[in-house]
Amino acid sequence: MDTPCGSGWISSQPSALFEALGLEEGVHYEVVVTTFGGGGEPHAAAMGCRVLRQPPTILLRPHASSQTARNIQRSRCGAVNVASPEYIVEAALDLGVLALSFGVGEAVEAPVLCEAYAVVEFIAEDFTVDDVWLQVRCRPVALRYRLSAMRPYSRSSSLLVEAAVRLSRVEPFLSMGRREEALRFLSEARSLLESSARLAGGGSLASIVDAVRERLYSVERRISP
Ligand SMILES: Cc1cc2nc3c(=O)[nH]c(=O)nc-3n(C[C@H](O)[C@H](O)[C@H](O)COP(=O)(O)O)c2cc1C
Repeated sequence: MDTPCGSGWISSQPSALFEALGLEEGVHYEVVVTTFGGGGEPHAAAMGCRVLRQPPTILLRPHASSQTARNIQRSRCGAVNVASPEYIVEAALDLGVLALSFGVGEAVEAPVLCEAYAVVEFIAEDFTVDDVWLQVRCRPVALRYRLSAMRPYSRSSSLLVEAAVRLSRVEPFLSMGRREEALRFLSEARSLLESSARLAGGGSLASIVDAVRERLYSVERRISP
């Protein structure tokens, strides 16, 4: 895989990160983190991140057992992709509804998500283990973004992201022996998903809602006593 992501990108200095993307320090943003696996296969996962201005820093917190944590520790680099809620949900749950296509980084050996609005390539400079999390301090080394009109806010897609966050925590919490919390996440995911479904219309968002619902049922079947 050595293709870039096609045309329509504006490249900028990584120091322009805050201005170009309208970021604010301290806000918790949800992004798609892309990394290469040990066999060179691209990997995408939804992750939360925060940013610091001086020096420009991206803070990530992958679960210590996640593929993303393993990949970043090995390759010491990756990319933060700013993407629509649908891609965040797809990357979190690997639903197979939306196709993710990957190009290559300009500055680091990492895949980038071609469907993103913006991509920040980074070098991972420092790792700290905190409970079950790997805290990673990342230095941005390349920035590119698309000039495209913003889509209107959709409650359905926001609720869907919240449902996906809860659902993605069920199995990690079960494997940590924290069944009560896992069941609470499952119940919250179910309720958020039903609200999302009511507002989803009948298009591609509804297909993703359906796929998340199928995933939720299969998790329920697996863990029911
Ligand atoms: C909006 C959102 C944010 C997430 N943030 C994180 C995160 O910060 N750390 C994490 O380990 N998993 C997070 N997850 C869950 C992961 O995306 C999901 O469990 C993923 O499959 C695990 O990562 P892996 O594929 O690298 O193993 C998030 C999920 C969603 C929907």
